[in-house]
Amino acid sequence: MNTLRCDQTQAWRALGEHYDSQGRSFDLREAFARHPGRFQALSFEAPGIFADLSKNLVDAQTLRLLFELARGCELEQRRDAMLAGAAINTTEDRAVLHTALRAPRGEGPFSDDVHGVLDAMLAYAESVRDTRASGIRHIVNIGIGGSDLGPQMVVPALEAFVHPELRFHFVSNVDGHDITSVLRHLHPGETLFVIASKTFTTQETMANAHAAKAWFVAHGGTDTAKHFVATTTNVKAAAEFGIETTFGFWDWVGGRYSLWSAIGLPIALAIGADNFRDLLAGAHEMDRHFATAPLAKNLPVLLGLIDVWYRNFHGFTTRSVAPYHQGLKRLPAYLQQLEMESNGKCVDLDGNALPFATSPVVWGEPGTNGQHAYFQMLHQGTDVIPVEFVLVKHPTHDLADQHTKLLANGLAQAQALMLGKRTDQALSERAPTAAKSLSPEVVARHRTFPGNRPSTTLMLDRLTPRSLGALVAMYEHRVFTSGALWGINSFDQWGVELGKALCNDLLPRIASSNTQGLDASTAGMMRRLFG
Ligand code: F6P
Repeated sequence: MNTLRCDQTQAWRALGEHYDSQGRSFDLREAFARHPGRFQALSFEAPGIFADLSKNLVDAQTLRLLFELARGCELEQRRDAMLAGAAINTTEDRAVLHTALRAPRGEGPFSDDVHGVLDAMLAYAESVRDTRASGIRHIVNIGIGGSDLGPQMVVPALEAFVHPELRFHFVSNVDGHDITSVLRHLHPGETLFVIASKTFTTQETMANAHAAKAWFVAHGGTDTAKHFVATTTNVKAAAEFGIETTFGFWDWVGGRYSLWSAIGLPIALAIGADNFRDLLAGAHEMDRHFATAPLAKNLPVLLGLIDVWYRNFHGFTTRSVAPYHQGLKRLPAYLQQLEMESNGKCVDLDGNALPFATSPVVWGEPGTNGQHAYFQMLHQGTDVIPVEFVLVKHPTHDLADQHTKLLANGLAQAQALMLGKRTDQALSERAPTAAKSLSPEVVARHRTFPGNRPSTTLMLDRLTPRSLGALVAMYEHRVFTSGALWGINSFDQWGVELGKALCNDLLPRIASSNTQGLDASTAGMMRRLFG
């Protein structure tokens, strides 16, 4: 198979030369001074999102070469193959069709199946949302990874749209503290458990599902059929567990791409059928943009290309995500799975070891909290870490002054990262808290900021189901873009298997105190913990 890997293209070599001659010494401040139209040239409109890419370490030549790279890797053909349902997840021989989940009725592959489940799920959600009739007040989603992070991220993000009488809880960890702390506050008659698992075999989810069922019965719960619902591809296993109501999906929906499927049931319960359809519609608009916009105006493509430029030429190892919206507090965690489980790979599609780096570490906290924790390192640390600011123009609260302060903080951080502060500037400023015993020159060096640190700013007009759908789909396609250039399979996750298998080996050993054949460290710790 021709894997069309980025490093085998002419453009890759040209980008290397461009980096050596100009990229390494590129200076944002000079670039803005040289080119007054830089903001206009490097800001982009995509459905639901305005993107300012002008504070990135790129110029017209960098982008030209990156587009050549994309063409050399046949990015558009690969995208089209995914959208058409080709089995691009080669190691599992599966299609990758999360886009079909948000295609309008009658469009896209498997439309009848998709809309059949969607209609049934939304009708069910509406029946539960009729709280006077259903008596339900608390929804507990039990799932992990892709069966948790999507709903756990979206429900608080869309808090302004959430049913006022319903409370949402997300239990994922096999750590019993997780479910115990949730159940402590609940009553069986008011609680609906959603058991969310693509496979319905995942250790954590099954353990928590059994704990929930035992709690339900022990606390006088009677109608299991009404209080437990499953979302899974393994309908048989859900039935064996004793669940009567199940909403299914398909093997071509990857876990980390599944919030649009039945896995989104908690979202539908929270925001209702119409809003859930809007979420899908926003994602679909982004799918159309990704499918049809030319490379030079295609936002997920542009961001994916810049990701490759930073990771493989500048050598940046991480990217920080700073959503300046408290509702998006779980966005970094969601993106960690999306990006790192997708692109954290070290062999290409043919199984050859890669001679270049892949997924960066993605991490972050909402602004402004991050500013008072790790932004020090972003400004003055020894590593350059591109930052992605996500700003929302209009809030859903009426504390206008606080919102202005929030947005000003986001803008100021991006400005500070880029502009920095020279030592002579620092020297000319007063620093009232500086030690009097140190010379002003020494203090000024501590108060110098290198600047030229890149950032991207994504702006949504409002955080709505539609704009959030577009934002998340944009991230999915961006991850596709960098993964396609790297020539890897972004849709499997064999890397999580080994630890699971070793855990399954340890459990019977712990029960029988058998450390034979274990490495000394594991054996020693096992005796400490269980001996
Ligand atoms: O961690 C591996 C993984 O397979 C993820 O890809 C997935 O989202 C998660 O486990 C949960 O799997 P399931 O939905 O089958 O319980």
